[in-house]
Amino acid sequence: MDIIAEGHSKIIYQTPDNDRIEMYFKDTATAFHNIKRAKIIGKGQYVNKISAFLFQQLKTAGVDNHFIETIDDRRMLCLKTEVLPLRVIVRNSAAGSVCARFGIKEGTVFSEPVYEMNYKSETLDNPFLNEHMAVAFGFVTHDEMALISHIAHQANKVLTEVFNKCGISLVDFKLEFGRLSNGTLIIADEISPDTCRLVDKATGTHLDKDRFRHDMGDIINAYQTVLTRLNYGRL
Ligand code: TMP
Ligand code: ASP
Repeated sequence: MDIIAEGHSKIIYQTPDNDRIEMYFKDTATAFHNIKRAKIIGKGQYVNKISAFLFQQLKTAGVDNHFIETIDDRRMLCLKTEVLPLRVIVRNSAAGSVCARFGIKEGTVFSEPVYEMNYKSETLDNPFLNEHMAVAFGFVTHDEMALISHIAHQANKVLTEVFNKCGISLVDFKLEFGRLSNGTLIIADEISPDTCRLVDKATGTHLDKDRFRHDMGDIINAYQTVLTRLNYGRL
């Protein structure tokens, strides 16, 4: 199959059906705009399985996304979309770049979810983007922006609840959006410990890519813990 795109952690293939793609999850981890890079054996399998589970939960709750079905340990079948050149980040409490940029203490719980966007460009350091810029630059319309914000907040509600049930706090996460050929916007890409911050409520242990970013070790154990807890729906 032809490769449509290859990123740090995924390869996107065109399937024989023009409306469908296959996502293959690699074991590569990158952070800090690709300055830090490593191969973490087995990571792709966990990302694939956790993403599939979360996409399914979102679908069941009526939050549309590109997931169709799991193909094997490392691959999922998805609807083909034109992915928007922006990332949406939702934060329930302070961690990562928001602490550095605004001087907010890590762990501060926000009075309402923080919603922000950035422009996908590693060479430009993924600059901050607001709604007016996203519209003026021709990426989306105001109506689409309102829809994206609504979907992101719905996704936050569903995912927070899914993780709560298994003793995990959803600190923050990143979403990407794609446009189907009929113009409909849906969640695309992946949702996994590579793109979320997840903390064990009982112990405060980080169960996400921060373990890689900050050399905390035990990355695979953490991803395995997330998958096991999701599968059993409890601790
Ligand atoms: P940040 O604290 O670095 O802004 O990241 C916020 C959340 O978004 C965190 O869960 C990691 C995720 N994220 C990505 O998955 N990819 C990205 O390129 C960025 C900037 C953030
Ligand atoms: N993917 C981004 C980067 O490589 C952010 C991250 O996940 O740390 O910088």
